[in-house]
Amino acid sequence: MRHHWVRAPSNIALMKYMGKIDAQKNIPENASLSMTLDSLASWVAVESHPASGHTGSITLLPEAPAASSKLRIPNLSEKGRQKVIRHVEFVRESLAPLLAPYGLEAVSEPVDLVLKSANTFPEASGIASSASSFAAITLASAVAFSKNPEAFEKAFISETSLKHALAKLSRQGSGSSCRSFEGPFVEWEGESAVAAESTLPALRHFVVLISDSPKAVSSSEAHLRVKTSPLWKDRPARVHARLELLKTALKQSDLATIARLTWEESWEMHSLFHTSQPPFSYWRGGSVEALQWFVSQVGGATALDAVGAPSSTNVLPIVTMDAGPNVHVIVPESDGEIWKARLQKQFGAQALLQDRPGTGARIVRPEEVPS
Ligand code: PMV
Repeated sequence: MRHHWVRAPSNIALMKYMGKIDAQKNIPENASLSMTLDSLASWVAVESHPASGHTGSITLLPEAPAASSKLRIPNLSEKGRQKVIRHVEFVRESLAPLLAPYGLEAVSEPVDLVLKSANTFPEASGIASSASSFAAITLASAVAFSKNPEAFEKAFISETSLKHALAKLSRQGSGSSCRSFEGPFVEWEGESAVAAESTLPALRHFVVLISDSPKAVSSSEAHLRVKTSPLWKDRPARVHARLELLKTALKQSDLATIARLTWEESWEMHSLFHTSQPPFSYWRGGSVEALQWFVSQVGGATALDAVGAPSSTNVLPIVTMDAGPNVHVIVPESDGEIWKARLQKQFGAQALLQDRPGTGARIVRPEEVPS
């Protein structure tokens, strides 16, 4: 029997993937760019043994990959479970030619696979769990179906092109998961997701939790419905122009421009939602209040509260929302404690998750599982 553990972080898009050219293969209408997270992640344990029957089997158990109070088991519907199993089959079928250029092989005999998956964040917290779980499931399946897992791990660490190839497989399970294989920034265009250049200093990421009620509209449905909005017209060209500016700003460490472009993009995506036929919304009352609070913080020292205000704290930080009610905030790590105090004062300590940029999916040792 073989046993492997992997972890893959979620990611938060600054330029959004919204609208597909090809829904089967998850080919996006426009390029997107995200920041890879670190501790907000999915952990997967995979056990494999020689198949008991003629063909191998794939089982996804609703159990944590390890005993840990930090891991939460997602409550998957039967449809969701079947989607994961089909994806593992897809990885199995695609693996041999993908490994060949690295002198690696897939297992030749059928195997029975048992997977267990859990997240470090609450399922309904509005963090993209499909991105982290599909990235983790893809990597776990690839290592489990590799003939020589040690050689596979070595190649996965040293060969960026192998990460890119696995990201492509992952994309077909869940689009945005292809941006969780590298970090801290990843650009995804067409079939490929690759690391984007950045000279930014260390950053801190917060999520202001507004609501944990389940999404009324799935992201698959959102990808379809945005095209009915009158604001959809020319969206790919607009994102393209904004993305070029964002990439330059990342290279120049121009936080103010990154914050402005990210804010515009988040409003544009949510405007598409609000003007679709029929319209829909991920916002809750608290989301609007939080966005208004950020607006009130811009405009110099008079708008600041008493906590303190070094230079980057009296301009808009990087603020964005995903397909959910919660607000993501990214600030320089050097101002992290000041922002933490301000956000806690405004929204309450319970309402705040914290993370930092990360480097993407990796194979881990069981002792690394958070206790
Ligand atoms: O990967 P999906 O199909 O769940 O779509 C994700 C879409 C957004 O999270 C709203 C935007 C993005 O680029 O991550």
